Amino acid sequence: MAKLFAHLRVTAGALALALIVAMPTPGSAQQPSSINPTAEAVKEQQLLQQLNTIQGRGTIPDVRSYVLEQPAGREWRQFHEVTLRWIGAITLLGMLAILIIFYLSRGMVKIESGRSGRKIERFNAFERSVHWMTATCFIILALSGLNITFGKPLLLPLIGPEAFTTWSEMAKYAHNYLSFPFTIGVLLVLLIWVGSNIPNSVDIEWLKRGGGLIGKDKPPAYRFNGGQKITYWVVVLGGGTSAVTGYLLLFPFYATGIEGMQIAQVVHAVVAMLFIAFMLSHIYIGTIGMEGAFEAMGEGTVDVNWAKEHHRLWLEEEMRSSPKGARAQPAE
Ligand code: HEM
Repeated sequence: MAKLFAHLRVTAGALALALIVAMPTPGSAQQPSSINPTAEAVKEQQLLQQLNTIQGRGTIPDVRSYVLEQPAGREWRQFHEVTLRWIGAITLLGMLAILIIFYLSRGMVKIESGRSGRKIERFNAFERSVHWMTATCFIILALSGLNITFGKPLLLPLIGPEAFTTWSEMAKYAHNYLSFPFTIGVLLVLLIWVGSNIPNSVDIEWLKRGGGLIGKDKPPAYRFNGGQKITYWVVVLGGGTSAVTGYLLLFPFYATGIEGMQIAQVVHAVVAMLFIAFMLSHIYIGTIGMEGAFEAMGEGTVDVNWAKEHHRLWLEEEMRSSPKGARAQPAE
């Protein structure tokens, strides 16, 4: 008898368990047969309002990384998906348009007196290596960074998900790792050229006279003119700001919480857009904008007539320090 009761108890227990499992939950009974995205979003929003955050579970020790959503994250997402793309599009396309219009109306700034055939050293090998290392890192950081902002809406539909995933992964690694040589480059730029980049009255005059780009005027300048000094400080301050904010993102939660990282991201992204737009103008002048400028960073020397027209005060200083023009060599 006792055996029979035991059997009955087990059977009743199993039946009760099966009923509980099979019983539809009240929530799922109300679920529509097809997904309604608006209803889902409202539910998520309600959850956020009630609990302030949506938090998951994780395996890494830092529990702060378990937060999946929090109210400020919504504003940040709006910034990242909409506002930032507008800021980027306006600054980058705006600068490109200005440069194209400028080139079409002004053309390349020529060496008016023609080439003298004599060359003078402008940048030594160390200065050129620092410049090109920083510039190469900058270009890759810019392209890989822009992929984070614009890749999904612009590139993904063009190349498809597989190619986009491979490229984005590579770009992200490049962005992370090249940040280190870039930072070293910016620090070296700061150290090696700070002495020649302190603004003075000659620069104000140079800027007032349109810097030799507007009209035919050729205002005198020392080693770096007002425009180059602006570029120098943009690189030092823009590079410094993108490095500090970038490392806050690269090493999350070390120095700041989520809110601080959101601020860092906004600053990083906006500075990056302005920085890239500005550097487009630098690349323009160094290539198609001005005859003889590329050689300065390419070979390290410039034509003496170029120096006379664009950096007369510097040329005079150089000639004084080596009176017979020993540093000026005949062109090959
Ligand atoms: C030391 C230097 C830098 C570090 C450590 C750094 C780090 C980072 C990190 C961690 C992110 C976030 C990536 C992600 O969301 O997955 C990022 C985004 C970005 N970076 Fe940098 N970066 C540096 C320099 C630069 C420079 C020089 C530029 C521009 C030339 C730049 C442009 C961008 C852009 C456009 C984004 C995407 C912004 C967005 O849409 O959210 N970064 N960077």
